[in-house]
Amino acid sequence: MINVKAQAYVFDAYGTLFDVHAAIARYRAEAGAEAERFSEIWRAKQLEYTWTMTLAGDYADFWTLTERALDYTFARVTSVDRKLRQKLLEAYLRLDAFADARAALTALKSQGARLAILSNGSPPMLDAAVAASGLGPLLDAVFSVDAARTYKPRSDVYALVTDGFGIDAREVVFVSSNRWDIMGAAAAGFRPVWINRARLPDEYSEHPPAAVLADLASLPSLAL
Ligand code: 2OP
Repeated sequence: MINVKAQAYVFDAYGTLFDVHAAIARYRAEAGAEAERFSEIWRAKQLEYTWTMTLAGDYADFWTLTERALDYTFARVTSVDRKLRQKLLEAYLRLDAFADARAALTALKSQGARLAILSNGSPPMLDAAVAASGLGPLLDAVFSVDAARTYKPRSDVYALVTDGFGIDAREVVFVSSNRWDIMGAAAAGFRPVWINRARLPDEYSEHPPAAVLADLASLPSLAL
């Protein structure tokens, strides 16, 4: 394999840089005993809608799908008071960044790499999350699938990075906590690093990651 120096590190947003369960965490007491189950279903449905819409050849932006998934979750987990709807949506716009995100991005930036996000998030969602986290000054670009009006893991989405930066896919290290996103990035020719925060079993063996890390802390010292 030709050893090409990485020019860019591109990060998935939700679940990788931003903690999707931070919204419910802010209202855990009000949400009650089923708070965790509620958040898991909300996230699972949000992603499922991206895949089903894509298979149907349809598109609605990620904020719309996030709202639909939340409404479904309220209907399914009836112990959680619907009065939390607006609060949870507002919290989703300012999710906590994972504690390891800033240090990893800062170290990679100091090594001269270009840094970006490639996310399903709609541009207003990503603008809000990046502003709230304070990570904006470290990022050279924020790519939203909205420009392609389709979702990961479609190859047109990953091409937003190579087209946007004008670089070869082999020069991109793509970092995601979503194993299915790693599959898409590997298929696109990126060097994928799976951040397996949840210690999940491996899958999609035909498209393996170049490396697996438990979190972002050791990413800057990783030799790929
Ligand atoms: C993202 O694109 C998949 O949630 C994930 O940010």
